[in-house]
Amino acid sequence: MSVYTIWNNKGGVGKSYLTFQIASEYARQNKEKKVVVIDVCPQANSSSMLLGGMVIGEDNLQDIHSATNKKTISGYVDERILSPYVNPRTGANYLTQVCQYNDKVSDNLYLVVGDESLELQAPQVLSATRPGPQDAWRHVHLWFRGLVDDIQDRFVDEDLTVFIDCNPSFSIYTTMALAASDRLIIPFSADGSSKRAVKSVISLVYGKTRSHSSTSAGATSEYHRNSAAYRMQVPKIYMYVGNRMTQMNDGSASAFKHVVNDITDEIWTVWQTDPSSFQVHPDGSATPNNKKVFKSMFLYEIKDANTASVFSGATGTPMSVMTAGPSKNMNGKRVTINQSQLDKQKPNIIDLVSRIE
Ligand SMILES: Nc1ncnc2c1ncn2[C@@H]1O[C@H](COP(=O)(O)OP(=O)(O)OP(=O)(O)O)[C@@H](O)[C@H]1O
Ligand SMILES: [Mg+2]
Repeated sequence: MSVYTIWNNKGGVGKSYLTFQIASEYARQNKEKKVVVIDVCPQANSSSMLLGGMVIGEDNLQDIHSATNKKTISGYVDERILSPYVNPRTGANYLTQVCQYNDKVSDNLYLVVGDESLELQAPQVLSATRPGPQDAWRHVHLWFRGLVDDIQDRFVDEDLTVFIDCNPSFSIYTTMALAASDRLIIPFSADGSSKRAVKSVISLVYGKTRSHSSTSAGATSEYHRNSAAYRMQVPKIYMYVGNRMTQMNDGSASAFKHVVNDITDEIWTVWQTDPSSFQVHPDGSATPNNKKVFKSMFLYEIKDANTASVFSGATGTPMSVMTAGPSKNMNGKRVTINQSQLDKQKPNIIDLVSRIE
């Protein structure tokens, strides 16, 4: 079993879009495995895309949210608020098989649906980390890991891969997701603030700050301190993914390269001091011994596919199964999908996913 969290401490970098594309393509490439997306972002964007997109997906979300027994992440969290320190082992009840709602994905793909009620529940979740047993924080931070274990028990003897989509803030749900994960995928975009966001991920998750960092010297996150104190697993960096490489598409690649190189320098510094924070892959690969090999193992770049990307998200059609053509129906609107747009992203997604174990 592998559990990947897709997170960056910055909004709008493509966490949800990539969760949707990666999980659906991973399920298509690995039909013998069970694949589960756990959506712990209250915006539920990846759930909406998986369940059919802007119109159908939103209607499906509405139906799932208004059912009496809410089969969503909030339904699970409600149960855990009632039983914070004793695991009821009911997590698998919250699974939805995505193809029941969206026939464009393969039948081995499941979802724990996102839910805006997470925002309302957050104070109760936080307060459960304080009173109670001395290691209350640890118990609460194992709720999502417990959910994953329940799902693995449901799919007994089958190989399970989990992708968790988070919101950008370092909220209780993000730290609970990190505590449930073995591996971290960090998407970033090619703008000026991306470097700061990646530095902040490194500092919040791994407690590493460089002397010129804006974070006050020596200060580390509660997550970092408690993970060490309770000897809990911290996910290893699996990939950092430059997403929406727009400038590259229209030829001004150099500004873009600059950001990618800056971020690589940051992450390379972490590698040099603590390679154990990284997951060398694929299994059995030699440990990178120079920056070039390091980059080819850990950096990936996904381009912007313009209208094709919009169509993909808006209709819940994974990029890897999209076809070109005129007059495609995008929720009642006719759009043309050019092969050249698909060529910008489809091979990228397929290749990126083939690198995920
Ligand atoms: N590679 C891409 N090509 C084209 N559009 C993209 C790409 N990646 C993301 N987008 C679009 O960019 C927007 C922001 O992406 P997304 O919602 O996935 O970001 P996010 O990091 O999940 O945001 P948030 O922090 O709000 O959760 C969306 O409209 C999405 O469809
Ligand atoms: Mg998102």
